[in-house]
Amino acid sequence: MHHGIAGELAEKARAVLESNRVTVRGHTYVRPAPHTYEHQWLWDSCFHALVHLHFDPDLAKAELRALLVHQEAEGPDQGMVPHMAYWDGSGTALWGRPHASTITQPPLLAQAVLATYRRTGDLAFVAETYPALRAHYDWLARRRDPDGDGLVTIIHPWESGWDSSPRWDRFADAAPEDDDGLRRWRARLVADLRRAGHDAAALEAAGGFAVEAVDFNSIYAAGLDALAELALLLGREAEAAAARRRARQVRDAVNERMWDPAAGYYWDLAGRAEDPIRCLTPAGLIALYGGVPDREQAARLVEHLRDPRRFWTRFPVPSVAVSEPTYRPDAYWRGNVWASVNWLVIRGLERYGYAAEARAIAERFVELVARSGFHEYFHPETGQGYGPDRQSWTALVVDLAAGLGEG
Ligand code: GLC
Repeated sequence: MHHGIAGELAEKARAVLESNRVTVRGHTYVRPAPHTYEHQWLWDSCFHALVHLHFDPDLAKAELRALLVHQEAEGPDQGMVPHMAYWDGSGTALWGRPHASTITQPPLLAQAVLATYRRTGDLAFVAETYPALRAHYDWLARRRDPDGDGLVTIIHPWESGWDSSPRWDRFADAAPEDDDGLRRWRARLVADLRRAGHDAAALEAAGGFAVEAVDFNSIYAAGLDALAELALLLGREAEAAAARRRARQVRDAVNERMWDPAAGYYWDLAGRAEDPIRCLTPAGLIALYGGVPDREQAARLVEHLRDPRRFWTRFPVPSVAVSEPTYRPDAYWRGNVWASVNWLVIRGLERYGYAAEARAIAERFVELVARSGFHEYFHPETGQGYGPDRQSWTALVVDLAAGLGEG
């Protein structure tokens, strides 16, 4: 890890995080990228924390603490951790309030806190953050499961973290190749949410954007497991059992409702009718990260992954399968490679014993970043980098490279 390419990459990763880090009113966080992304994002910061753990665990704690500062303190959304914190107070034009957005992002908070505990043994940090975490996961169950099936519903593409994925095209009023039109649609959608009081049931009833997403729910299930472990550390047995039960319910619901036995894949469900969104993306593979599939289902998922006509490109994993008509590897979230997605897919493969596949993706990702730099996203065939070239979460390459020394 601390020699050769990996050692050099680790130094660069550390420098990227360090130069993107800012301190505001005593709180410190890492901007996803200077200029392009000045604010604090929820799942980015969870990933930053995982990288900080390799260098300076105190920074991981600071990053996670900063996320909790803007947690919703009251009202129907009490407990929600917003997907964006505007530390400069500039959020009002879009969200109607200065310091935070009114939607969330994939729930990786409990996993990040648990990883921090495992690295540091700091039980006081667990005790400090646990009530806020619990409130966040309770909020997801309380406010985002309008049909009571255990699956949470996202109400804006931004909540998925996959902003412009073709998974969401059916809801948009712009054509799949109209990137600007899609961007305008996403901004307009915020006004709809605000009018509906962010009520998932009302939005769903009105035929608005409402999706039970397979990756979000799988991350949620893994998060509930992590929450249960944190509860046990604090001696809260009943709460641990409740979190476990909920995790099981989520997994069962994903299997019951999203699994397509003919395709051997999981699909997101759109709207009240739970119409399957048959768009082949690695979101279905992220079910592995959530411990959702059984062995047989996992094997079928991995068949898709290994297929060069689908996901096994020169640099895996493309965010849309090569076989999809909407595949556009140079367009934002429409086929390019992302550190966040790769991390989730790799950890999922490891969980199911697909060590060789996990390793191959990690090695090629290390090669990609070494060659192209710390870009936001990459072309899965040529390796060309796009977006900012000092994107913080691409530093996840360090966490992925760390596992490679051992094989
Ligand atoms: C983009 C990505 C989102 C990420 C944010 C900050 O909006 O789609 O996933 O959280 O940038 O990096």
